Amino acid sequence: MRPDSLAQTDRKQVKVAISAPGPWWRDAVIYQVYPRSFADGDGDGIGDIDGIRSHLSHLADLGVDAIWMSPWYPSPMADAGYDVADFRDIDPAFGTLSEAEALISEAHAAGIRMIVDIVPNHLSSEHVWFKKALADPAAPERELFWFRPGRGEHGDEMPTDWVGEFGGTTWTRTTDPDGTPGDWYLHLFTPEQPDLNWEHPTVRAEFEDILRFWFDRGVDGIRIDSAALLFKDRTLPAVVEGRPHPFHDLDEVHDVYRAWRRVSDSYPDRALIGEVWMPEVERFANYLRPDELHAAFNFDFLGCAWDPELMRACIDRTLDAHRAVGAPATWVLSNHDVTRHVTRYGRTTTTFSFENNLDGTPVDLELGTRRARAAALLSLSLPGATYVYQGEELGLWENENIPVDRLQDPMYARRGHSRDGCRVPLPWSGDEPPFGFSTAEPWLPQPAEWKDRTVQAQTGDPSSMLELYRSAIALRRAEGGLHEPHMTWLPGAPGVLAYARGAAFACVLNMSPAAVPLPAHRSVLLTSSPLDGGDLPPDTAAWLRLAT
Ligand code: NOJ
Repeated sequence: MRPDSLAQTDRKQVKVAISAPGPWWRDAVIYQVYPRSFADGDGDGIGDIDGIRSHLSHLADLGVDAIWMSPWYPSPMADAGYDVADFRDIDPAFGTLSEAEALISEAHAAGIRMIVDIVPNHLSSEHVWFKKALADPAAPERELFWFRPGRGEHGDEMPTDWVGEFGGTTWTRTTDPDGTPGDWYLHLFTPEQPDLNWEHPTVRAEFEDILRFWFDRGVDGIRIDSAALLFKDRTLPAVVEGRPHPFHDLDEVHDVYRAWRRVSDSYPDRALIGEVWMPEVERFANYLRPDELHAAFNFDFLGCAWDPELMRACIDRTLDAHRAVGAPATWVLSNHDVTRHVTRYGRTTTTFSFENNLDGTPVDLELGTRRARAAALLSLSLPGATYVYQGEELGLWENENIPVDRLQDPMYARRGHSRDGCRVPLPWSGDEPPFGFSTAEPWLPQPAEWKDRTVQAQTGDPSSMLELYRSAIALRRAEGGLHEPHMTWLPGAPGVLAYARGAAFACVLNMSPAAVPLPAHRSVLLTSSPLDGGDLPPDTAAWLRLAT
């Protein structure tokens, strides 16, 4: 499976010896840590900073360049921490600010950069600003949010009929201090996540200060949540097909990111990475203009079907859009919001979208795993930065069997789909749950079948997903061609994607139903599944050394 692969000890030397040219964020491997589910250090069934610190060696062994930490700030957890009550502290469930600082230094000492998640569209309803705004209709904090009178004679109809990002309504009525019904406030997500008014200078100043707070603590990058939603059309028009959307991608948002870029540019080597869900690639690329964000997540690739033509078109579309603004592409297969790709690729419909709920439809996990292995070699060899969501390196699948009374995701009540299935705590060791994650019952149940998916069970097993990721990331670091900004398509049989990176490296992915011969090569560096008498079987990728 790994004819020329690197032995484990060699990998560490490669990591120290090879450093890519250009800024780190252009071709980094970035690992998303979902802190609730990574590792539990204090035995309460919820992951925490202590757990992350004691498992940092897993990330160093994997060879990742950076960690993106999903929110760890004080929060009532109405949306798993994306409802932030204080951006300058850490939730006690996760630890303390000094533990966070220790983690940042320890990660740096291990050669791993740190990215934190900032959520500018909304705050928690427990944030001091919102509490003041709610307590007194005359409070200046009221202007920091979207309070509006209701429609209708008694003001008891919502100001708009906008549908929220999780589905459901977007306004909640307040009660004035005298007990009478008052204004409504806007929340594009849950009522516990009131939207901020980005037209207000105090909001802008506050977030620039929050960026500085974390940059001053050494963080290397910021992931920007819901980056395209910040501005709303203040005339509150209805959402009408063919007309500008009242709260998606308003032009004013770009000024905010230009200001953020000035802040990040005042520190060395910092990066801003946007969560921008945007079907129109040109609008998407606007966020990546040279004076705006450094990178943005490629959800086009994440949602793409396991289909050679569609995949190739997606790669071309991605590279063209990024080339136009000089930004690096990103390659994302999974995150904490979407069905894990082992499960997606094991279904008949392999696309992902929130609108098309495929929960409970049949899944062939063996096929999904085989494709996920091939997808790993694809996403790790395309030009740009690659994201790895915690657990994908273990080949975890979506847990679709969580009892309804254990579900925590607020999306479930609104859309009938829960994101909890991809947020299940990691299996580290042992034969049964909690698989070394905790000494207590984990906050979400782990499938008993994950006993073969633990870090311990996979370490040293050359056929495991974990060793595939370790080898691929080490080779990626060592291969000059994989640090070049471009790729070149090579001729391939129908259903086969083949491309070169530099003169000496190629990746070939067979998405056709039959085995195909490999193109001319000097040696096979790595394959996602064993070759079939020298041929590349279906749903398999190979990394090749080309004869030069
Ligand atoms: C995107 C985040 O990734 C998701 O988890 C969250 O629910 C929403 N933004 C709201 O913050």
